[in-house]
Order: sequence, then structure tokens, then C-alpha cells
Amino acid sequence: MVTAGGHPASTTEDVKTLFAQMPTAVAVITVGKAEKRYGATVGSLNALSLDPPLLMFAMKRGSGLLERLAADTTIGINLLADSQQAIARRFATPGIDRFEDTHWCEEHALPRIDGTLAWLTARVRDLLPLGDHVLLTAAIVHGETQQRLPLIYWKRAFHKLGAVESSAAP
Ligand SMILES: Cc1cc2nc3c(=O)[nH]c(=O)nc-3n(C[C@H](O)[C@H](O)[C@H](O)COP(=O)(O)O)c2cc1C
Repeated sequence: MVTAGGHPASTTEDVKTLFAQMPTAVAVITVGKAEKRYGATVGSLNALSLDPPLLMFAMKRGSGLLERLAADTTIGINLLADSQQAIARRFATPGIDRFEDTHWCEEHALPRIDGTLAWLTARVRDLLPLGDHVLLTAAIVHGETQQRLPLIYWKRAFHKLGAVESSAAP
């Protein structure tokens, strides 16, 4: 592992700087209905398998969301649109009511945030403790998308997508 300057990356800060080079989509994972509702921002959401349809994400050990997740827990996945950076920040902030000042409704007994790029529900399958995080896989139950652009997180800041070319990759 090397830093941009070519020196070995040995400190946690060096590793964070390396990870910050990796652009990610941004989602809010939600659980629970009514007063039990809960949600947190994740950048680790990724596609995993087509058959069966699985996705994955990782939560830091000790996270409040992780405490509410177990095998078979149904989760909502709110993939944020590029106008929703305030929501991304809010759902990453400890000690506040994250749903206050956020437009959302209850769907499939889960909090669904308005105006997202995609809304999915999924059932947690595996929880694999790895390092200081737990990697979770979840089976997709329901999914819908809207004609919006994604919010991107890169180098500790939010960005909008800029197309390099319009043709699809192979
Ligand atoms: C863009 C962005 C992406 C994030 N991705 C993750 C992630 O993938 N996993 C994680 O554990 N925390 C992630 N965080 C940090 C959590 O959102 C933050 O620690 C939050 O307070 C966790 O809430 P909780 O302790 O209630 O679960 C991310 C934060 C931001 C702003």
C-alpha cells in the first residue's frame, strides 16, 4: 500500500486518505416502523449477486443501525439523489432526530425517504464481522427507480455525476 507521494501508508489517517479516493454512491438504510424507526447513511452499499439478487454493505461495530440488524431483518434502502446531500449529512449525525425536517413516509412498514433515486426493500441474510466493521448481505425483495442522478461521495465531499461519455460500458 502506498500514499500518493509513494510512501508506505501505515497510519489510520493514511488508510482513510486511500479509501477517500474511492467514489461511492450514498444511501440511507432504514429499519422499524412508527416510533421504532431508525436510519443511517452508508457509502458501502454495493451490488453483490444477480442470482439470487443480493446486495452488501458494511457497518462499523457499535453503530446504532447495526444493533437493530439481524438475519431476516427487513431493511429499506434509500439510494440518494444528487439534491439530497443534507439528508446524507443528517442521517450520519449522532444524537439528533434524523427524520425531523426530512420528507418521508411509511411503506412496507419501513421509513421511505421522498425524492430518492431508488427505493428498495431487502432481507438481511449474512452478518460477517470483518476488521472493525460487519459486512452484511441482503436479499432484494422489492425495488423501484426514478429518473434522477446519484449523489456521489468522494474525498470526504459530496459530488454530482459528470458523464465522460454517454455510451454504456461492456
Ligand atoms: C457519505 C457517508 C457514508 C458513510 N458510510 C458509512 C458506512 O458505509 N458504514 C458505516 O458504518 N458508517 C458510514 N458512515 C457514517 C455513519 O453514517 C455515521 O457514523 C452514523 O452516525 C452512524 O449512525 P448509527 O451509529 O446510528 O448507526 C457514512 C457517513 C457518510 C457521511
